[in-house]
Amino acid sequence: MKKSLIVANWKMNPQELKEAKNIALASDFKNVVICSPFVFLREIKKTIKNAKIGGQNCFYEKLVGPFTGEVSAKMLKDVGCDYVILGHSERREIFKENHEEIKKKIKTALAVKITPIVCIGEDEGTKNGGETIKKQIFGSIDKSFLSKIIIAYEPVFAIGTGKPCLPDLAEKRRVFIKSTLSKIGKKGESLPILYGGSVNSKNAIKYTQEAGFDGILVGGASLKKEEFKKILSKA
Ligand code: PGA
Repeated sequence: MKKSLIVANWKMNPQELKEAKNIALASDFKNVVICSPFVFLREIKKTIKNAKIGGQNCFYEKLVGPFTGEVSAKMLKDVGCDYVILGHSERREIFKENHEEIKKKIKTALAVKITPIVCIGEDEGTKNGGETIKKQIFGSIDKSFLSKIIIAYEPVFAIGTGKPCLPDLAEKRRVFIKSTLSKIGKKGESLPILYGGSVNSKNAIKYTQEAGFDGILVGGASLKKEEFKKILSKA
């Protein structure tokens, strides 16, 4: 059986480097990507031998420049990142990132050979979620990105709420995302798709083995060392 890709999204946690290193030790596996805050990345890379690291965002200008508060994809690459999460719903909502900006960020990350993990997902529950997903896909995914990116389906109502999307609905969305991507180009059909939103050790397997996802994006549970270890042993 193919190993799922497991991405830990630490968001703006934990408080201290010591704790960050301790949590990271649970994740020393080849199929894990740890997306920690920028300031911990270098040390996390030193602490874990096998796992990969990723950023949680990057700017769309390529190298350096007068962009106070921003970090470039090249800077992420230089500290050892192979991945970057882009378009997370918290960035779309709190920082008002739009499709066009996300598209530019994806392009910049690809230019320095970082794999973007592009988050998409609806916030209205089941009602007209398909429309939101279509807008996100057509607005930010270019034909030239196909085969080079990973998609993370993260329904907003499931993020950090303890109320995961039911695996049946998640599977329908996965199929819908694939068919929408295939309208951009044939390679869209084979892009890996992760599920994210209140994943824990009890439900992880439902997404990876029952609903057909290629992996999971784990927020809160990735910060609890024992819980994350359980997820890794099951998913
Ligand atoms: P959660 O977060 O697992 O805490 O719901 C997932 C995410 O935001 O990526």
